[in-house]
Amino acid sequence: MKLKQKVAIIGVGKMGNTLIDSMLKNKVVNTNQLYGTTSRLETAEQTREKYHINVNTDNLSAVRESDIIILTVKPQIIPRILKEINEVLDKEKLVISIAAAITTHFMEEQLDKDISIIRAMPNVASLVNEGMTVLCPGQFVGKEHLNLAFQIFKSVGDVAVIEREELMDVVTALSGSGPAYSYMMIESLADGGIRMGLPRELARKLAAQSVLGGAKMVLKTGLHPAVLKDDVTTPAGVTIDGLMELEDGGFRVALIKAIDHATQKSKQISK
Ligand SMILES: NC(=O)c1ccc[n+]([C@@H]2O[C@H](COP(=O)([O-])OP(=O)(O)OC[C@H]3O[C@@H](n4cnc5c(N)ncnc54)[C@H](OP(=O)(O)O)[C@@H]3O)[C@@H](O)[C@H]2O)c1
Repeated sequence: MKLKQKVAIIGVGKMGNTLIDSMLKNKVVNTNQLYGTTSRLETAEQTREKYHINVNTDNLSAVRESDIIILTVKPQIIPRILKEINEVLDKEKLVISIAAAITTHFMEEQLDKDISIIRAMPNVASLVNEGMTVLCPGQFVGKEHLNLAFQIFKSVGDVAVIEREELMDVVTALSGSGPAYSYMMIESLADGGIRMGLPRELARKLAAQSVLGGAKMVLKTGLHPAVLKDDVTTPAGVTIDGLMELEDGGFRVALIKAIDHATQKSKQISK
């Protein structure tokens, strides 16, 4: 669905570019509805040439011109940016921050008025339109603003909304960091194939497509992963031997612990 609003992307880095790219490709906005900012003139020029949108180093004017402001800068810069744009924010505008570990309460406190702020945790798979974004609305966010944020992130994958902000740490650990875990799994499966003689490129393709296929089966059938696993595990067959090795290597516990530890780390950074 196309937005009528103008959107400012504050910080056109990796995630900022991903959002610009996908919003334009999916026709969520036109080029004349998008503004971008960066701290360096050369990056501004490169991004301007790449997307034919208005990009400069002036955060204030980008925010003044826009209805939706997406903060895609590093977390440590968020307080400085909020102080800088405070004077041009008003109740009609929506601020969305994708900065990890920065709470809506903390951001609301940096401003001298009640502004709609949504905390979003997207992931890097947004680059290929298979992202997972979780939105958490701050205390001043109405339905319309939440719906706008939903539409923006729906253009780069799937979206979920949570109210309990303390869960954003586990969201960060699970879907924010999730692509990294799947890369490691794909790399390891491919190495297994290479060890058994498969050509490298083919091994990588078989591993990646199997992980993608498994994920799609879970999402499309709605069945429990254990049911799907049982369906492909023939008694005395090949798969059960592979599964036994994974159990022996502590595969499940390792993944559960990964989420536990990464969640603790996110909580620690938030403090
Ligand atoms: N990468 C991920 O997978 C991921 C996933 C979820 C959330 N996030 C969050 O997304 C945010 C951005 O991450 P990233 O990986 O995209 O970082 P990044 O590539 O370093 O992008 C940050 C951008 O902010 C710009 N910037 C710095 N100071 C600025 C200022 N004063 N005004 C305007 N722009 C400024 C930088 O521009 P210059 O280079 O010109 O300084 C850079 O282009 C982080 O808060 C992170 O927590 C990232």
